[in-house]
Amino acid sequence: MAAIAAPTAPVPEGARITVCEVGPRDGFQSEKTFIPTERKIEIANALFASGIKHMQVTSFVSPRAVPQLADAEQVLAGIDRPEGAFVTALVPNLRGAERAAGCALDAVHTVVSASETHNLKNVNRPIAQSLAEFEAVFDRLRKAGIGIEGGIATAFGCPFEGVVPPEQVGRIAKRYQDLGADSVSLGDTTGMATPLTVRAAIRAIRDAAPGLEIHLHFHNTRGVGLACVMTGLAEGVTHYDAAVGGLGGCPFAAGATGNICTEDLVYLLQESGYATGVDLEALIGAGLLTQQVIGRPLPGQVIKAGPRLKRYDPALTATAAG
Ligand code: COA
Ligand code: ZN
Repeated sequence: MAAIAAPTAPVPEGARITVCEVGPRDGFQSEKTFIPTERKIEIANALFASGIKHMQVTSFVSPRAVPQLADAEQVLAGIDRPEGAFVTALVPNLRGAERAAGCALDAVHTVVSASETHNLKNVNRPIAQSLAEFEAVFDRLRKAGIGIEGGIATAFGCPFEGVVPPEQVGRIAKRYQDLGADSVSLGDTTGMATPLTVRAAIRAIRDAAPGLEIHLHFHNTRGVGLACVMTGLAEGVTHYDAAVGGLGGCPFAAGATGNICTEDLVYLLQESGYATGVDLEALIGAGLLTQQVIGRPLPGQVIKAGPRLKRYDPALTATAAG
């Protein structure tokens, strides 16, 4: 993966931005009704067909904790990977790493929270225990030739503890760097990120773990998810997670709602002069398919409005005659 050129240089216009689709993991995990495995595969394939290359497809977590993703192995075995696909899955512990090692994966997204209370809620252990187990997790994945994106949940604030100091995020990032992670991903679990907290966390990591690639994962809970992307771009970050239709949310974090929406992110990036490799019309089609499978309107906006230059027939629009 491309190294970040200069610590705080903005991403230049025209640059390629990685859009990592996390709907099949972050989106599906909070859906109460089980989505049949073949429908999950159909949605993942529609997303790939729109030009999405990076996808977090599922989680290797306890099926009792997250029953929706109990079919992780079957989903991974069923998807059609396009040329250049980069497929990842979430892993919280050694058991998850063992399951991941038996699957065709390019990388694993490990998860630990920056706040103690959320780590206890999410993975039922203190932060120190998660980090200690990661030594064996990293060893297992390395032996299987699988890369590692080190996930840090509640990186911009915790729904139980409030403020998360950027230095704490920096410390965990440094630990990930020492363990040999390829990148670190800052998770905005309950949409507490703001332009200033994003800038502070990125700079804290660049201080604590120089050279470590940073990925950003925003939720749009308070409506500023895409503004945080603009801050990330201004800080030189080229990798963003998003979920189709704006699905998403952590079942173990109070008040969690959807990720930033992939269609809205791709629209913003393309209209800002960045390359994504994604066909927006085809992506909207994948969003409509997802909406149909989920069975309720999704929060994304471009899915409703269409691309900017979508044209309407004047004959079908009322004239305001007095
Ligand atoms: N995959 C499948 N099963 C797993 C597992 C994994 N990765 N990790 C543990 N288990 C099973 C164990 O085999 C054990 O099963 P058994 O009782 O039939 O023997 C059981 O779960 C309990 O194992 P334990 O190690 O005590 O786990 P725990 O109960 O402390 O739960 C986690 C820890 C990490 C497994 C659980 O909290 C979890 O899955 N969290 C993920 C939450 C999540 O996905 N959040 C959203 C994403 S951020
Ligand atoms: Zn998330």
